[in-house]
Amino acid sequence: MQVLRVTGGARLAGTVDIVGAKNSVLKLMAAALLAPGETTLGNLPAISDVHIMRQLLERLGCEVTETTDGATDAVRILTPDIPLSEAPYELVRKIRGSICVLGPLLARTGHARVAVPGGDAIGSRPLDMHFAGLERMGADIRTEHGYVVAEARELRGAPIWLDFPSVGATENIMTAAVLAKGTTVIDNAAREPEIVDLCTMLVNMGAQIDGIGSSTLEITGVEALRPTSHDAVADRIVAGTWAMAAVATRGDVTVRGADAAHLQIALHKLSRAGAEIEVLANGFRVAMDDRPKSFDVVTLPYPGLATDLQPQAIALLAVADGVSMITENLFEARFMFCDEIARMGADVRTDGHHAVVRGKERLSGAPVRATDIRAGVGLVIAGLVADGITEVAEVHHIDRGYVRFEEQLQSLGAQVERVESDSFGA
Ligand code: EPU
Repeated sequence: MQVLRVTGGARLAGTVDIVGAKNSVLKLMAAALLAPGETTLGNLPAISDVHIMRQLLERLGCEVTETTDGATDAVRILTPDIPLSEAPYELVRKIRGSICVLGPLLARTGHARVAVPGGDAIGSRPLDMHFAGLERMGADIRTEHGYVVAEARELRGAPIWLDFPSVGATENIMTAAVLAKGTTVIDNAAREPEIVDLCTMLVNMGAQIDGIGSSTLEITGVEALRPTSHDAVADRIVAGTWAMAAVATRGDVTVRGADAAHLQIALHKLSRAGAEIEVLANGFRVAMDDRPKSFDVVTLPYPGLATDLQPQAIALLAVADGVSMITENLFEARFMFCDEIARMGADVRTDGHHAVVRGKERLSGAPVRATDIRAGVGLVIAGLVADGITEVAEVHHIDRGYVRFEEQLQSLGAQVERVESDSFGA
């Protein structure tokens, strides 16, 4: 089995470059369906999601070409006048985020058949708010033989309140509303930087959207959109991962190409832990000399601290001075990570959506398994602050969100290699 073998003890020092956000890729690519003609997207991270979404767009009748420089991909998407409308299970199940084709397909063709993505390792991920929003705009939605079937003779703008600021629901409703008749107001909308990224692209395509970056989006439908060129926003979660790793290892890392404003709460927490944070013109620097001090974490929709940084924070707090309380408000199963880091000697106890971490001087290297992308990088950070060797299995999870992860770690001075291991049996 392929693992990342981490030898603990290094202090991370140097510079890393941040490319476009994984969580923008699918949405930007799906938005290309909204306008016939040639859309070009750049600064996409060179990850498998781009290839899978490419296959999905091809199944929907688009012609897609991809170029890569190893770190970033660029795609050219030629969208037909009338796209096909079936997104098959064999592709949707590989990346649940591909449900984001629902809004654009419904808006363009009045009909969409998209596989229901199914189970997920980080917890239950219902789609009720996606459906309720589209239904308010006049769509008829039912689930048939594992597929969401959505139909609308005409989509009409409507007032929509989300029970929770869901990223995916906001995106699907927004991408349907841009071509609907009249005005849609989404209240309690998500306002993640990736939503702003998608809004920016849609506006460049001719969409009318007010309130971008706020929790009330007002979208007035237009007759047609035109294709555009767009570069994805920098990945704040990858940037935050490096910041956590720098503090955990008492290192000094410059994160280039990231926007510190997208990580305000996370960076504030790290400065409370004792880190020196310097905001630069094109990124930020995080430096730490002493053992970090404990802090509490509550995950919340943006601008709250991202659930996608929670495992990395736990890895750091596992070696902090003091006791920390972590409250996970989005994905309950993310605490599966705690059972793995406990194998490395971390003192973590969970109860429902709370975890208590009692920091120790060091962890102890062990074979562990990544259960999702963020758990994977959290375990690598834990390996960096552990005595001896940690082998992190299920590396494919890490590869889904981090481009050239071990190369970047090595360039910062970490001892990490990708090897075959028999620690996990056959
Ligand atoms: N929810 C519902 N009903 C819905 C939709 C969501 O109850 O109809 C709940 C979810 O169960 C969850 C909460 O609302 O408890 C938030 O879910 P949201 O819809 O915001 O998440 P998502 O769009 O499915 C995206 C990212 C996730 C990230 C979350 C939260 C993509 C492809 N995925 O998921 O990224 O954790 O937003 O920020 O954009 C990751 O990168 O590791 C990852 C899981």
